[in-house]
Amino acid sequence: MEKVVSGIRPTGNLHLGNYFGAVTSFVKMQEQFDCMFFIADWHSLTTHPKPGDITKSVDTILAEYLACGIDPSKATIYVQSDVPQVLELYLYLNMNAYLGELERVTTFKEKARQQPDNVNAGLLTYPTLMASDILIHRALKVPVGKDQEQNMEMARKCARRFNNIYGVEFFPEPQSFHFTAQAVKIPGLDGSGKMGKSQDNCVYLKDDEKTIRKKVMKAVTDCGPSQPNSPKPEVIQNLFDIMAVVSTPDTVEHFDTAWNDCSIRYGDMKKQLAEDINAFCAPIREKITEYSSNTELLHRVAREGAEKARISAQATLDEVRQIIGFHK
Ligand code: TYM
Repeated sequence: MEKVVSGIRPTGNLHLGNYFGAVTSFVKMQEQFDCMFFIADWHSLTTHPKPGDITKSVDTILAEYLACGIDPSKATIYVQSDVPQVLELYLYLNMNAYLGELERVTTFKEKARQQPDNVNAGLLTYPTLMASDILIHRALKVPVGKDQEQNMEMARKCARRFNNIYGVEFFPEPQSFHFTAQAVKIPGLDGSGKMGKSQDNCVYLKDDEKTIRKKVMKAVTDCGPSQPNSPKPEVIQNLFDIMAVVSTPDTVEHFDTAWNDCSIRYGDMKKQLAEDINAFCAPIREKITEYSSNTELLHRVAREGAEKARISAQATLDEVRQIIGFHK
């Protein structure tokens, strides 16, 4: 069966961007593929979190994975740091990755701007660690949002380069995967760019009704359409984009028509959007609370997942060592 791998950094709660960009695909893919879904705790070290925060955030994501419907009897769920084989492959991939190409990665440049006092080597080699996460299971498909495209290109480059250097056809080139026609980008509520934890523009799956309403009602808008059928400015398109994933097509059409004939009232649209986000999140929220209180279950899932992930990873690593020329 085709292997699928994907992960999420444990830097807080899952937001709508994580859900619609990645997790919704995880849930569908577990029915058809051999899936490995992990929590990228090593990746989160690039921003120097406190030890207690890592443990807490890992448990949070485990609970949220289960609450969203990832089923440990169908998919392997594990924590990255429980699979040390990933680090050995990371080392080998780093030997064939070059400073120039790593410095050109947009997310590296962004992070270097955001944390100028902490431009560490882990930040620079973030894409090779991500490539290792994927290649360690020789995965073909990687469900990720649009923001990961450049990292995925680097993962393919790492696979190709390894194969070329050693004259083998060992690593397949992993492809981004999404069920929609295009990769998903969920915008933030602040009118700019994507929804993301560091931007403080997120609706989290665990947000309660009041919080959702407060955040949505504060979302950036403009002064309204000046003439019929005009193109929507980005801040308004963003609201429509979020609506497209949580509301019914009829609702979207209703507000689209109102935009086009200039009768739209943003207050009404936001009220509806908040209601639809809440209706979407409510059942997940309940399950998050339920799973969060069952740390015994969470740790059992992670333990069993790690065992399976280590077996898969070691099989790849044994072959890699042989290809490179090390004794077994
Ligand atoms: P992370 O933790 O930033 O995000 C996890 C997943 O959520 C998606 N995502 C979004 N999708 C659409 N719209 C948004 N606004 C949005 N925000 C986040 C991301 O695309 C991602 O799929 N580097 C990865 C974690 C990682 C990984 C891997 C992923 C480490 N190793 C190996 C796949 C395979 C990251 O930082 O994702």
